[in-house]
Parts: sequence; structure tokens; C-alpha cells
Amino acid sequence: MTPKITHAEVAAFAERAVNLSRDTAIERRRQVNTLRDRLKSHIARNPGFSLVKMLHAGSVAKGTALRTFNDFDVAIYVKRDDAPVDEAELVEWIAERLRAAYKGLLDPSQITPGTHCVNVHFKSTGTDVDVVPVLYEGDADDRGYLIAKDAVDRTDWLLTSVRLHLDFVQNRKDDCPDDWAQVVRLVKWWVREQVMSSPPGDKFRFKSFMIELLCAHLLDTARIDFTDYVTALEGFFDYIVRTELGERIAFDTYYPASDLPNARVGEIEIFDPVNPANNTARQYEHRDRVRIVDAAEASLDAITEASFATTKDQAVKCWQVVLGSRFRG
Ligand SMILES: Nc1ncnc2c1ncn2[C@@H]1O[C@H](COP(=O)(O)OP(=O)(O)OP(=O)(O)O)[C@@H](O)[C@H]1O
Ligand SMILES: [Mg+2]
Repeated sequence: MTPKITHAEVAAFAERAVNLSRDTAIERRRQVNTLRDRLKSHIARNPGFSLVKMLHAGSVAKGTALRTFNDFDVAIYVKRDDAPVDEAELVEWIAERLRAAYKGLLDPSQITPGTHCVNVHFKSTGTDVDVVPVLYEGDADDRGYLIAKDAVDRTDWLLTSVRLHLDFVQNRKDDCPDDWAQVVRLVKWWVREQVMSSPPGDKFRFKSFMIELLCAHLLDTARIDFTDYVTALEGFFDYIVRTELGERIAFDTYYPASDLPNARVGEIEIFDPVNPANNTARQYEHRDRVRIVDAAEASLDAITEASFATTKDQAVKCWQVVLGSRFRG
């Protein structure tokens, strides 16, 4: 038996431990579709209702969710002129309207205002749906102002389009069926391992959306082969170690590169493909970047060491640095 860890073994691990099962994904999507459809018919019956529509926005919709995911994200489009300006008031105001729209389907106590979004809880399955407001003025591509969920000390309104983001991801999935999304999920799993092993006061951060954009960049520029998960992960870490995440990453799908700021705007720059003024990594500081680079380096070393391992056991131990102790080869 070869001591090497191969693509097939990483693929099997992904299937067993990383990926959200198809049945769960279908079940969750069905519940969220019910929310969307009920809202749609309520809007049809109540012209002038201030909520416009609901769109799937998160990883379950994109096919990049992990088995361990806990929140289903949807965007709720709200008429900007009708909406309260204050964030807490806005969230409460949306909750009230959702309670009206879902009368008979959900108990009012299942719909609760949170910090940046309204939470909808399904008792039967335990599914939690985060309903994130988008202030909308009728843009044809569903652009609107989204509250950044990661906003810490102030309300950050970002002009963007979650629907164009879904299209953006879908285009990469079309270019590289199954494998692109699988590598995204493996990298997200790697991030999860780093987060779990980092001290509470000094948390490792690497946001899912940034990972998707980075993987899109690596696919677009043909920097790594996504069809072999061993070399893809190696290539992903190698890119981070080599560039120290100092390269500006941007896409000219929805705006020309000339719309981007001339000067650097952040320690890490990964621009929203929909809005050149939105650096999705704007909240990442020097310390965050260093931690990502260090973790990538440790994983890259582990993969290299694994390739020289003389026993399977050694190789598995190396890969556990990357994919966690549940990886058994
Ligand atoms: N900084 C941002 N700027 C613009 N849009 C964002 C930003 N962060 C998130 N989004 C939008 O929210 C969606 C959800 O992204 P996010 O990174 O929160 O989690 P996710 O893809 O649902 O992954 P997870 O499995 O971690 O929940 C993205 O697809 C994007 O449309
Ligand atoms: Mg999510």
C-alpha cells in the first residue's frame, strides 16, 4: 500500500465529513422556499406592502455549505423609502411584517429580531433562517444596500447584489463542475479547524465569501488544478504563502478594473465583484493576515511532509494538520 494520500482519499473524506448531505440541503431549501412563496403570495394580495421579495443568499443556495452549517441566509428586499433608518427599528419593523405574512404558518414567537437580521426558527427541523435586510430601490440586477453581518461597531451598508453573487459562483461551478465547489468546501473546512484551535481572544478569521472569491480568482487565472484535491489544496496554500495575501484580487465581470481605487484600501484586498468600493476584507488587520499566512504555511509544509512519508500513519498525521483529527486517510 502506498503511504501517499491521494485525491480519492481526500474526496472520500469530503463526502463523509465535510459536505452537507444532499437530503438535508433539499429539505432546508424546501423550508426556505416555503418562506419565499408565502411572502410572494402575501405581497400579491397586499399591494403597497413594504417588503418586496426574498432571495436565497448563503452557502446552502450556492452549494458551498458544510455539514456543520447552522444558518440559512436569505435576503429580504425592503422598499428603501418605507424603511426605518435606525437598524434596530428596521429589524423590528421587518419582523412585524414577516409575522403578518406568515400568519397561520409560523407562530409569532418563531420570528425574532436579532442584531443585524431577523431570525426565523423552524421547530420541526431546528432550521434557523437569518433574514438579512436589503434596502431596495428597484434595480434590475437586484442591487441594494445590505447590512454587513460582520459589522462590529457600526452599521455598514454595502451596495451589492446577492443575486449577482449567486450568478458569479454559478459561473465558476459551470466552468469546473463539482470540483470548484468541493475545493471551496475543503478550504472552508480547513478554516473551521483553524478557528476551533485558535484561542478565544485571538480568533482566526477567514470569511467564507472571501474564500469563494479567492478560489474564483485561482480558477480564472488557471493557477491551480481543481480536479485533484491534493494538488488543489497545496496550490491554494502555496498561493497564500507566496503572495502573503498581498496581491489585490478583483474581477472585471460587472465593472471595469478602472473603477477600483488606485491606492491600497486594506491589509487584504479582495473586492466584491459587484461593487468596486467594497473590499470584502475591509475588517481584516495585519494580525489576521499574518495568521492566515502562518496557517497556510503550516499546512503546506504538512502536505509536503506527507508526500515523503514512509508509512501511511505518518502521512495521515500530516494531513490531520490540514483537515483535522477526523481525517483517517
Ligand atoms: N463583505 C461582503 N460584501 C458583499 N456581500 C457580502 C459580504 N459578505 C457576505 N456577502 C454576501 O452574503 C453571502 C453569504 O456570505 P457569507 O460569507 O456570509 O457566508 P456563506 O457563503 O453563507 O458561508 P457559510 O457557510 O460560512 O455560512 C455572500 O454570498 C454574499 O452575497
Ligand atoms: Mg451562511
